[in-house]
Amino acid sequence: MADLDGRTVLVTGASRGIGRAIAIELGRQGAHVAVHYRSNAEAARAVVAELRALGAAATDLPADIRRPEEVRALVDRAAAWRGRLDGVVTSAGIFRGEGTAEVDPKGWAEVLATDLEGTFRTVQAAIPHLRSSPHAAIVTISSILGSHAEGGGVPYQAAKAGIEQMTRALALELAPRIRVNCVAPGFIRTDMNRAAHTDPAFHDEIARSTPLGRWGEPEDVASAVAFLLGPEATWITGGVLPVDGGLPLA
Ligand SMILES: NC(=O)c1ccc[n+]([C@@H]2O[C@H](COP(=O)([O-])OP(=O)(O)OC[C@H]3O[C@@H](n4cnc5c(N)ncnc54)[C@H](OP(=O)(O)O)[C@@H]3O)[C@@H](O)[C@H]2O)c1
Repeated sequence: MADLDGRTVLVTGASRGIGRAIAIELGRQGAHVAVHYRSNAEAARAVVAELRALGAAATDLPADIRRPEEVRALVDRAAAWRGRLDGVVTSAGIFRGEGTAEVDPKGWAEVLATDLEGTFRTVQAAIPHLRSSPHAAIVTISSILGSHAEGGGVPYQAAKAGIEQMTRALALELAPRIRVNCVAPGFIRTDMNRAAHTDPAFHDEIARSTPLGRWGEPEDVASAVAFLLGPEATWITGGVLPVDGGLPLA
């Protein structure tokens, strides 16, 4: 039996990048996966096809994570799909790195609504469904910038710090029935930071200053998420697991 055999998991932001790799890894470990996306239907369908080729059941579900009513409908549909919901991973997110003088109310609201409130509403909607699972677990996605500061991108850093504290508070509130953990990735090569990792000088600078000597790949995050959802982590809750090549240690 694979580690996540027969469990149904909703992964938000699973059309691309880290969420996509998480969906595939969960499918590889035996889970059935609801692949959420916002607008990139073609990419989401490709992830579903890849999962089905692995033998996993998969379905693609759209929702704008900034809209609480869409989030509720998304989670209800994911739970109705196979009549159960065992896990939720909240990977949908956006990054904006502008300096504080350039952060207008719309930009602030967009980042907070997507990254912070989107995570909260997804978890909130999932709780009633997860309560009936014997394996209920939630994994949120923060960032190295949730606890280590950088100049610029203050709304993003505030949102990610909020996700880490939200994780701890939820873990306490939902114990012992539902475990809640967070993964905090470092620099991972995805669309989100394409400009950075395709700039050879910046790419090499990050690789050089990372103790483990390279950028992260989405699969590095996916295996950590699968571990936290699975049977090897049944006494872990409220944790924030860095997956960053040791960058903050340097
Ligand atoms: N990449 C990194 O270095 C890094 C580092 C630390 C943390 N993270 C975090 O990891 C998570 C995933 O990042 P990524 O690099 O994989 O990003 P990505 O490649 O840009 O993918 C973003 C995903 O989020 C979805 N999304 C964006 N806005 C949405 C909205 N309003 N409603 C619903 N879905 C929305 C996108 O859907 P569509 O495809 O439909 O647009 C896509 O599936 C984010 O929370 C990010 O903050 C990333």
